[in-house]
Amino acid sequence: MTDTLHAGQISIRPLGSALGAEIGGIDLSKPAGAAEIAHVRRALGEHCVLIFRGQALTPEQLIAFSRMFGALERHVLQDYLLPGFPEIYVISNVTEAGKPVGRAGAGQYWHTDLAYVKEPSLGSIMAAIEVPEGRGDTLFANMYKAYDALSEPMKTYLWSLRAVHDFAYTQRTQIAGKGYTKPASAEQLAKTPPVSHPAIRTHPESKRLALYVNPGMTTHLEGVPPEESRAVLDYLFEHAVKPAFVYRHRWQPGDVVFWDNRCSMHCAIDDYGAEDRRLMWRTTVKGDAPV
Ligand code: SIN
Repeated sequence: MTDTLHAGQISIRPLGSALGAEIGGIDLSKPAGAAEIAHVRRALGEHCVLIFRGQALTPEQLIAFSRMFGALERHVLQDYLLPGFPEIYVISNVTEAGKPVGRAGAGQYWHTDLAYVKEPSLGSIMAAIEVPEGRGDTLFANMYKAYDALSEPMKTYLWSLRAVHDFAYTQRTQIAGKGYTKPASAEQLAKTPPVSHPAIRTHPESKRLALYVNPGMTTHLEGVPPEESRAVLDYLFEHAVKPAFVYRHRWQPGDVVFWDNRCSMHCAIDDYGAEDRRLMWRTTVKGDAPV
């Protein structure tokens, strides 16, 4: 008989004041029941980033755990999907037989995953397979706190506005010319036309309000003159990553980190070289249209 997990065994230890909690008493390779998954979901909406240490998951186990939270996306950049497991997007600087095993340099700018689609991702679950010691950290910013700390006039101004998100813009501004990763093809870009979402969204589970714009994907505020839109977005981008809202995750092999794309942004740090091996498997859970 397979062991199952009980909600009472799960421990939640908040990490610092910005966001994040370390979750203990849970072996992600084993099936969990509805009560345990509900417990994890609640913790996710509250802490925005959950860290599970010491997990050694097979691709099948990572996919099975991820599916407990919703259907999984297949990333538009198909070259980087794990062979035989298209639900797993591989982020890595490792090459084997001269071929990259994953996408190098992914996400080295502040963003939320899949903000450029109509129904952006609920959350992403990333398993650290190999990490360079003391390097290749990931930053996470709390977008509830960013919203809460805005002035009342700014909250009122943003309340009715929608922001446009565009994957082609990400390609032009964050990827092109960096050399380590192949640009998206015209066909891939055609599958991801620009979309707009409310600049402030309500988290469907916690019911809290979060700022929903990001520097890597958001091009402008709809219906606002371009200069004003640029100035407001630049202000919001700087505001959202104030140190008080940011947690820095130092990866260890065996970490599984589940981040909530509805209340956080993240940015991978590019401070390691070709001689360092960083290999991560990420699943991306589908979400709903932001409201
Ligand atoms: C990403 O999903 O944006 C990449 C994060 C990372 O590699 O740390």
